[in-house]
Amino acid sequence: VSDSLSVVGIGGTVRPDSATERGLQLALASAQEAGAEITLYDGKYLAELPHFSPSDARRTRETAALVQSVRKADGLIIASPGYHAGVSGMVKNALDYLEDLREDDRPYLSGRAVGCIATGSGWQATVATLTSLRGIVHALRGWPTPLGATVTKTPDGGQSDAKNRFQLETVGKEVVQFGILSRSVLDTSYAGKG
Ligand SMILES: Cc1cc2nc3c(=O)[nH]c(=O)nc-3n(C[C@H](O)[C@H](O)[C@H](O)COP(=O)(O)O)c2cc1C
Repeated sequence: VSDSLSVVGIGGTVRPDSATERGLQLALASAQEAGAEITLYDGKYLAELPHFSPSDARRTRETAALVQSVRKADGLIIASPGYHAGVSGMVKNALDYLEDLREDDRPYLSGRAVGCIATGSGWQATVATLTSLRGIVHALRGWPTPLGATVTKTPDGGQSDAKNRFQLETVGKEVVQFGILSRSVLDTSYAGKG
């Protein structure tokens, strides 16, 4: 673990100028402002990952880099569009690779805060997708931040709307605050394996 706190962002869509990706960038910038080193795996990157297969342990360089970043990270920020009221296939495929962290000393996302961001045209899909993301984070033993961000109808991913901006910036800060707490007081050795 390096001295500076690292926060990894995963998310976006393949659409140029993706609102999901811009929202993620805003949250990451806030984490950076709070003192973290940030790494972004955006839509363009995620689109190149092969479909996850539990029976094929081969990993592309890109996939291995993503998994290794998450392994070393103090916190994550995940951003998905609400596609038919759920997490998009592309984002979920990237998250499926976190299965590779199962046998780690800190299994999956143990001891790490995860900020969740969901975008959508309307509120129903956005809120449903946020709930789904938090469920995934819990399944991976991560700690969803108290505030999750729900962003609707903002092509710029939240910059122009004060409430969106507040949510995205707060998510970034909460991930860093928890990262500091986790490093100083949290013992993840209880987490076990399997
Ligand atoms: C396949 C697909 C399904 C979608 N389903 C919904 C939906 O069920 N409800 C909704 O409010 N918006 C829906 N949307 C709109 C997306 O949530 C919206 O485009 C996204 O938040 C912003 O995507 P961007 O990051 O590419 O800008 C859908 C869009 C696509 C492409």
